[in-house]
Amino acid sequence: MHTSVLTVSHLKKDIKKKTIIHDVSFDIKEGEILGFLGPNGSGKTTTLRMIVGLSRPTAGDVEICGYSLKKNFVQAMSQVGCIIEGPDLYGYMSGYKNLELLGSMSQGVTKEDIDSTVKLVGMENRIHDKVDVYSMGMKQRIGLAQALIHKPKLLILDEPTNGLDPQGIHEFREIVKRLARERGLSVLISSHLISEVQLMCDRVSIINKGHIIQNADIKDILATGEAVWTVNEPEKAQQLIKDRFGLETTRAPEGLKALVDMDTLPAINKTLIEAGFEISFVDNKKRTLEDLFLELTEKDKI
Ligand SMILES: Nc1ncnc2c1ncn2[C@@H]1O[C@H](COP(=O)(O)OP(=O)(O)O)[C@@H](O)[C@H]1O
Ligand SMILES: [Mg+2]
Repeated sequence: MHTSVLTVSHLKKDIKKKTIIHDVSFDIKEGEILGFLGPNGSGKTTTLRMIVGLSRPTAGDVEICGYSLKKNFVQAMSQVGCIIEGPDLYGYMSGYKNLELLGSMSQGVTKEDIDSTVKLVGMENRIHDKVDVYSMGMKQRIGLAQALIHKPKLLILDEPTNGLDPQGIHEFREIVKRLARERGLSVLISSHLISEVQLMCDRVSIINKGHIIQNADIKDILATGEAVWTVNEPEKAQQLIKDRFGLETTRAPEGLKALVDMDTLPAINKTLIEAGFEISFVDNKKRTLEDLFLELTEKDKI
């Protein structure tokens, strides 16, 4: 059974009488990684800050593991780990000391918790070195360890791979995926990078100018493609496809085109041929998250 770990309902934020975030809603289930994708300035950080209680929503609410942020702030927050403005570390201390210090400030964190978290982020070998000598990627892993030390159910990361090199990005991505898979951790991760979301996430919420413009499964997006049929009597073919498959096609210079689930394409072709249509060419192009993103944001420009 998949229970909702995070439910964001109708969040709104006004800053200086201007609405920055309009009616943002989405949810995350246990073990799911949700990508919060949007261009710079679209409202990702503002939304995440409200979710982790750093800023108060103008309207709407957030529920974390069933606890409302408005009514049960402390219980809700005890289930969350986050890196919002980049990790906050003491450079002159070792990674280990940093974790110990943080651990001593939250209740019930044992030495074993610290050690297992260090392992989880793959920092066993360098954990006693000073933070000042760490690479960006190592600092980010210590930040991740800080966020995880109290064993939260939900991890929130604001553009965590900014400033990492390709190797660091790859390693970070693998750690986050493993956490979701092996520990059932739910992850909300914001990014302006389409490829990052496509590689790391199960679902995506696309935000543009403070509005959520799409919530979708990455799998579904990738399973969809644009098909083009070059067929005699396109009007009649259009009607047949609509009657049999409930699919709206549009006229293209070549004939007909539509966005289809790639799995149904053979069935459509077979139906057309069996009905006596002459198909001289069928083309299909897999859709990527980038195509969807550009379609959605282009529409918005007009
Ligand atoms: N404190 C603030 N005062 C005024 N405008 C703000 C403030 N914080 C954010 N904004 C505006 O809100 C919009 C969204 O910003 P932000 O959430 O940081 O976007 P993102 O994280 O997606 O890049 C931007 O246009 C930004 O200029
Ligand atoms: Mg931001």
